[in-house]
Amino acid sequence: MYRPARRLADIAPFHVVELLTRARQLEAEGRDIIHMEVGEPDFPTPEPIAAAAVDAIKRGKTLYTQALGLPELRVAIAAFYRTRYGVAVPAARIAVTAGASGALNLAFACLAEPGSQWLLADPGYPCNRHILRVYEGRPQNIPVGPDSNFQPTPELLRQHWSATTAGLLVASPANPTGTLLTAPEIAALAEVCRERQGHFLVDEIYHGLTYAPQDTSSLVEADAPSTKATAPGFASDATACAAGDDVWVINSFSKYFQMTGWRLGWMVVPEPYVRDVEKLAQNLVLCPSTPAQHAALAAFAPETIAILETRRGEFRKRRDFLAPALESVGFRITARPQGAFYLYCDCSALCDDSFMLARDLLETIGVAATPGIDFGSNAPEKHIRFAYTTSIDRLAEAVDRLRRHLAR
Ligand SMILES: Cc1ncc(COP(=O)(O)O)c(C=O)c1O
Repeated sequence: MYRPARRLADIAPFHVVELLTRARQLEAEGRDIIHMEVGEPDFPTPEPIAAAAVDAIKRGKTLYTQALGLPELRVAIAAFYRTRYGVAVPAARIAVTAGASGALNLAFACLAEPGSQWLLADPGYPCNRHILRVYEGRPQNIPVGPDSNFQPTPELLRQHWSATTAGLLVASPANPTGTLLTAPEIAALAEVCRERQGHFLVDEIYHGLTYAPQDTSSLVEADAPSTKATAPGFASDATACAAGDDVWVINSFSKYFQMTGWRLGWMVVPEPYVRDVEKLAQNLVLCPSTPAQHAALAAFAPETIAILETRRGEFRKRRDFLAPALESVGFRITARPQGAFYLYCDCSALCDDSFMLARDLLETIGVAATPGIDFGSNAPEKHIRFAYTTSIDRLAEAVDRLRRHLAR
């Protein structure tokens, strides 16, 4: 008998994973595939982090930790907020999680009432709507585009807020567009949520991966805001205490720290909910991976940060190369890609179905990219996402192949 829960009908597969499977098949047949579909850094985890993990395992640090994480890691994360952002976040409000995914699961398990609606930017990270569905909440898409740099605005929030809306989740930098919200923009969104007694969740998983302006293109604002504007920053402002203290901040060791497979992240939890999140974590996961947590203790060391900053420079060079190069072959980039490692391109001048385009590019020229359909229902057929998670040489090779193919 096969009888899955009804909610399964609403959970869509990741199209990109299916594309990746096909890409691997083609590789097994000897084809050279350039991977621009994958949303993870191509760099290995920095050596000091890996060494700390090996050392921890040798020392037998393999038993469960506290459900909210190793106390010393929570303290280290709090210190990171102090040194990097200049904000005081008590370690007691930090929950260490199994990646940002674990954090999102805990947040929605804690907050989503059956049928409650949650405002999400469309296009946006696809798992959000599915995680919500698992906890019986409902996604309520806010279509966003170039006019608001693919981010929700207070006006859009007010326009879409309904009687059943429970809150808002934003990401800055965002996936798939790489666009940022400035500190005042985040404050304004927090204000609307507070006005409506809604929850406000900010996904900062791509924090740290923001770039200085490009020389060769006007895509990026001259004053690209730095990631120093973290959402809990508002907590340090006494007058905006409520704004800061009720913001749920999600982060991860996956992207900036290049630890995707370690499955480790964290969440800054509004104080009244810490015990609830702890209860949920105890029951749902017992604790995050212990060796990964010991490894992460080395993530904030100066020698690790030096490695990560060098790599951030490399991502910036890739973006500065790839954005104008893709435009030169017929894609349009209407988002200002200031962070993460994605370019979300309008491909409507080249085709009228980005899913077919992604399939065609993979099959005929071995370039793998992610079709817009993975990111929502706001003109997905017109968009395709290229990740610059491969070397400049490989990106250049991809652009050559695209140029030859699209000129046909
Ligand atoms: C916006 C966003 N949030 C959350 C995640 C989940 O990341 P992880 O669970 O690896 O921390 C991702 C992964 O790509 C993402 O792009």
